[in-house]
Amino acid sequence: MFPSEWLKLRAGVDFHATVVAPANIAWVKYWGKKGPQLPANPSLSMTLQESRTLTEIEATPASKLSVELWFEGARLEAFEEKTLKYFQALAQEIPVLGLHRYKITSQNTFPHSSGIASSASSYAALALGLAKLMAKLTHSAIDFTAAANLARLGSGSATRSLHGGYVLWGESTLVPGSSDLYGVEVTKHVHPSFLNARDCILVVSSKVKEVSSRLGHQQMNAHPFAQARFSSAQMNLAELWGAMKSGDWDKAGGIIELEALTLHALMLAARPGVILLEPNTLEIIRLVRLFRKASGVPLFFTIDAGPNIHLIYPESAHAKVESFVRHELIGFTENGSSVIWDQMGSGAQ
Ligand code: PMV
Repeated sequence: MFPSEWLKLRAGVDFHATVVAPANIAWVKYWGKKGPQLPANPSLSMTLQESRTLTEIEATPASKLSVELWFEGARLEAFEEKTLKYFQALAQEIPVLGLHRYKITSQNTFPHSSGIASSASSYAALALGLAKLMAKLTHSAIDFTAAANLARLGSGSATRSLHGGYVLWGESTLVPGSSDLYGVEVTKHVHPSFLNARDCILVVSSKVKEVSSRLGHQQMNAHPFAQARFSSAQMNLAELWGAMKSGDWDKAGGIIELEALTLHALMLAARPGVILLEPNTLEIIRLVRLFRKASGVPLFFTIDAGPNIHLIYPESAHAKVESFVRHELIGFTENGSSVIWDQMGSGAQ
């Protein structure tokens, strides 16, 4: 899974890097895994431009691995422990990673743990930082495939954040070269009307989620609808992919919404059932559907594992959507003002 020269290294090095990684929003969701953090079904996402994590990684040689983590100006012990475990697991495979003391300083342009995929951008940033460290140690270029592996082991969806545009993660006959191990960018195959797609994020609540996506994935192991879900994801992906290639926004939007509702239906039907939607989430969904019917504007919603709504639409609809959001939806967001205007963006750097 990792280059063999990485595995042989036995001495640390002084290192400093700054990495920026985007969040992404899945149109076909990854929910359920197998083996070493491999997806139970392929997923397809749009990389975001404005919602990003900026991470600085400093490494100094040390006899014992340790991690100090600062998030938005404060030491964050809960994340520090999680990150240390992640580094320890990686060091089992790549021993030289265990021969450093790390100081990580991170900040997001959006609220973390609120259904905007902060784990995706955080782990993508960390993984690319580690791949840069390995490049320095081996005096070679950054290995992006290895970085994608590192990212996936932190958070599955993070592997998609290394790339820009549209990214498919998971083996699928639809895209030659697709893999369970890393994401592949598929933007060049889509119809021009899907380029520069927009995502208006309505933050209904920025509170930390009560239930982690780790638990959600785990619940899929014994979920009565698991097999039906894994095959519906394949069908939805095929239909969405056809619509994205032909430029059929209505068909694509139908699948995007179906995927979001399916994700939450799976959570509702899990043991114990998990409810992450808020009353305002449902009200926004109702209004979006009414607006679409009345105006003909191709505006669709999707939701991750949280209460916040992502409104997905073509760039050409922006003026109408902006006015609709400002007049009719903004009142249902946190403090009546929590909106992030985002769009298709570039990958981690
Ligand atoms: O990458 P994880 O383990 O945080 O899981 C992400 C799951 C969803 O965000 C709900 C769906 C997805 O494909 O991004």
